Amino acid sequence: MKEDVICLSRITKTYDGKNVLNDISLKIKKNEIFGLLGPSGAGKTTIVRLLTGQINADSGSAEVFEENTSGLTSSDKRKIGIVMDNYGVYERLSCKDNLELFARIYNIDPQRIDFVLKKVGLAGESKKAAGKLSKGMRQRLILGRAILHEPELLFLDEPTSGLDPVTSSHIHDLLFELRENGTTIFLTTHNMNEATKMCDNIALLNCGKIIEYGNPKEICSRYNTDFSVTVKTIDGKVLCLKKDSENWKKLVEVIVNKDILSIHSNEPNLEDVFLQVTGRGLE
Ligand SMILES: Nc1ncnc2c1ncn2[C@@H]1O[C@H](COP(=O)(O)OP(=O)(O)OP(=O)(O)O)[C@@H](O)[C@H]1O
Ligand SMILES: [Mg+2]
Repeated sequence: MKEDVICLSRITKTYDGKNVLNDISLKIKKNEIFGLLGPSGAGKTTIVRLLTGQINADSGSAEVFEENTSGLTSSDKRKIGIVMDNYGVYERLSCKDNLELFARIYNIDPQRIDFVLKKVGLAGESKKAAGKLSKGMRQRLILGRAILHEPELLFLDEPTSGLDPVTSSHIHDLLFELRENGTTIFLTTHNMNEATKMCDNIALLNCGKIIEYGNPKEICSRYNTDFSVTVKTIDGKVLCLKKDSENWKKLVEVIVNKDILSIHSNEPNLEDVFLQVTGRGLE
């Protein structure tokens, strides 16, 4: 049986009298890619801060590697990598010097620096000061720093937010590769496509509460109630047919008698699910 790398049980957190996390329970297994999906202010970063030992909860328990996150030892911390806004980046140092500094602190073989710079596509920028990097390059430097010590568990708070599709896709490939090599990945996003593509399991977070949990595709099929299909024909007609015997007869008729351009099933996506449960969108 796979072990749980992360275990949150009945977590609550209040800021300025406002309940920011409300009875959060979650388990994440080793080697899983888990996504926390929710709109701005839902509490995603607060959960990452809690799990990485940067803040404490008001009540409930938060464990990584079966250790309470309020008292992580340095050997536990060494097993964790963190990608958050500007986390651990020294603006005036070059990309290489940033990684060298971190490598010295963690006693990492310096040869790994060039390997990681290449891996995150920054080999050509190694001498450039971090403060002069573009947003996408900067994000890749933060990721490079986070994976330099080959962590078993990687936290990424909105790793591709505001990045172009090519850079995002490069980061996704890297994350899949890390998972292949045994890393457990916890990411936050408000991008439903990213969550659907990347994650084995997701939790939908709204106002500090988990409102849905599971495999993204399974969640979407659970909310697929009308099983409709849309058929487009060469002559420009579009038919949207809900599942019932009359409509299905019509569908067969169209397939047999018309030139079909496309047929799509209309199951909801995560955005539709979120909207259905909360009455608001993810963005
Ligand atoms: N240090 C703090 N002091 C007071 N309130 C805070 C603090 N940190 C977070 N909050 C509040 O907690 C709530 C959740 O914030 P959090 O940063 O976790 O949201 P998020 O889901 O990460 O949003 P985003 O998608 O915008 O990053 C917000 O209402 C925020 O204002
Ligand atoms: Mg956030």
